[in-house]
Amino acid sequence: MCLSQFGDPRGPLGWLAGKLMARGNIDINQLALEALDLQPGDHVLEIGFGPGVTLAEIAKQAGDGFVAGIEPSETMLREAAGRLKEHIEAGSVELKSGSVSSIPYEDGRFDRVLTVNTIYFWEQPESDLREVRRVLKPGGRFALVFRAIKDENGALRMQGVPDPPSLEELTRWMESAGFTDVIAHDRDIRFLMSTMKGIALVARAE
Ligand SMILES: C[S@@+](CC[C@H](N)C(=O)[O-])C[C@H]1O[C@@H](n2cnc3c(N)ncnc32)[C@H](O)[C@@H]1O
Repeated sequence: MCLSQFGDPRGPLGWLAGKLMARGNIDINQLALEALDLQPGDHVLEIGFGPGVTLAEIAKQAGDGFVAGIEPSETMLREAAGRLKEHIEAGSVELKSGSVSSIPYEDGRFDRVLTVNTIYFWEQPESDLREVRRVLKPGGRFALVFRAIKDENGALRMQGVPDPPSLEELTRWMESAGFTDVIAHDRDIRFLMSTMKGIALVARAE
């Protein structure tokens, strides 16, 4: 399957990519959930939720909070809407078409924002991070989660993108975007047939 189906899932192949994401991304999404440290009543946004497996888990934990997700792929929106049908009908979950570059919510709407395995596809990560900061309340928590492998110097770097930023560079981008207290958590994760590192960069909105 063409790798672009993971960044822009469309049609039957995109649907299949969604099934692979749902099975293959369990470990890294678990890391994201732990990093998010959800509290009762939180208003939570997931950016690029893919098949919606993690949103469904957040919806279970959110109690009387509010859970939102944005996704540019119509195929993934349909897939997740099926999975989250009951929560959507009950009004506790809202899914919208959208991209990290232009998040369709007002300033300071959320207590928590997460995104897993999407930054590889962001067109302008530095300004996109400012857009994420915009929709968080001051003091809100952001978990930026991605796969990494060691480079020739043994440093962890984002996997699967040309010229990946170092963790230090990503941290600087987050700080320039208005985040503080950036902490990196890493863990071995299984991804399909291989084991690699999952990284959660967790930060607080200033
Ligand atoms: C590899 S999938 C990961 C899906 C899910 N988060 C997971 O971990 O299983 C990447 C997802 O990011 C979405 N995506 C791509 N570009 C995006 C952007 N600019 N803003 C938000 N989501 C994006 C894709 O449509 C796709 O559903």
